[in-house]
Amino acid sequence: MSSLGLQNHKVLSGMRASGRLHLGHYHGVLKNWVQLQHEHQCYFFVADWHVLTTHYDSPEIIEKSVWDMVIDWLAAGINPGSATLFIQSKIPEHAELHLLLSMLTPLSWLERVPTYKEQQEKLNDKDLSTYGFLGYPLLQTADILLYRASAVPVGADQVPHVEMSREIARRFNHLYGKETGYEEKAEDAIKKLGKKNAKFYNQLRREFLQDGNESSLEKAQALVDGHASISIGDKERLLGYLEGGGKIILPEPQALLTPVSKMPGLDGQKMSKSYNNTIEMREEPEVIESKIKKMQTDPARVRLTDPGNPDNCPVWQLHEVYSSEDAKDWVQKGCKSAGIGCLECKRPVIDAVLKDNAIFKERAREFEESPDIVRGIITDGCEKARAIAKETMEEVRSAMGLNYR
Ligand code: TRP
Ligand code: SF4
Repeated sequence: MSSLGLQNHKVLSGMRASGRLHLGHYHGVLKNWVQLQHEHQCYFFVADWHVLTTHYDSPEIIEKSVWDMVIDWLAAGINPGSATLFIQSKIPEHAELHLLLSMLTPLSWLERVPTYKEQQEKLNDKDLSTYGFLGYPLLQTADILLYRASAVPVGADQVPHVEMSREIARRFNHLYGKETGYEEKAEDAIKKLGKKNAKFYNQLRREFLQDGNESSLEKAQALVDGHASISIGDKERLLGYLEGGGKIILPEPQALLTPVSKMPGLDGQKMSKSYNNTIEMREEPEVIESKIKKMQTDPARVRLTDPGNPDNCPVWQLHEVYSSEDAKDWVQKGCKSAGIGCLECKRPVIDAVLKDNAIFKERAREFEESPDIVRGIITDGCEKARAIAKETMEEVRSAMGLNYR
């Protein structure tokens, strides 16, 4: 896990189609995506097959969930001009790669992923002892490796899945990256870098392989990545050769840990549909107002004259997300001295939530009115995504002995 730095990354992330999104999703995930789309090449997709791994008995929920979610992405400010948006099941290569990777995936790797047992216990009203559910992280691995993503923004619960995709990539490259005559081909590729770069490459490679100097490895990778005139095949050879192995056909992605959102639910617990404590991004303003007005406050404040403590109050957590230092000061002092009432204290957060809500609703309107525009965005995104997916699969098939006619 690491931060991204200034380098231009290929960023990929997915979200299970879950219908309308709430402010927990916005502050936790979408704000981060909006930021990333300006700095990197971004691919964001709806993981609709992943929904079926747990909800195989309710296919009727998928279609609406998908479009509601995409509209919320757009409402949050995801810009289809900056990021490529697509739907997993429209790119059948995800399934093909999942199948091919399954051939080399030890069962024990899947069984030991922590979410496997956890989710089975949590969703105990469902029979999740299925093949598809066990394969959940491998499908996610295929999602990631198919686009040769370098960075995958995810929450902490998903880090083990990205870790697994690194292990699978390594195993794949180890098994299939050693073409015959590999070393000669790599040496030829070095010559194609030009005399000066070739010398530099060899020096950096030595520094890494003999002395384990990581920064030399990074410099050499940058040298290869930045070289404009060599083929993809040679690039893969040069990158693989740097680390002493074969071709890097599927590069290892890094997890980019999304900072934990401080956004609480209406009851102070984590905001989540299953706790029934959410405010949806496109909720009606009157509903937002009444939900926040009804929120529990510090139970010590029975009467207006009773002083309270913001630490015991979920409304304070909302101030932490939405309020300026001055406003927070006003809350702290007013609450502890019983100088302000709870309704008064809630007003600025209600206004702040409504302000964002108005922006979401405004952005969403044209998409709600013209579903064809949303379909068009996704069709374009799928086309771009598929072109990359096809390229990767050509190489994967050929590496696995399937490129014959
Ligand atoms: N499993 C992820 C989640 O539940 C969603 C997901 C599917 C994903 N495929 C992915 C995330 C690929 C990142 C990359 O949040
Ligand atoms: Fe909570 Fe504000 Fe009331 Fe204090 S004044 S208990 S912080 S709502």
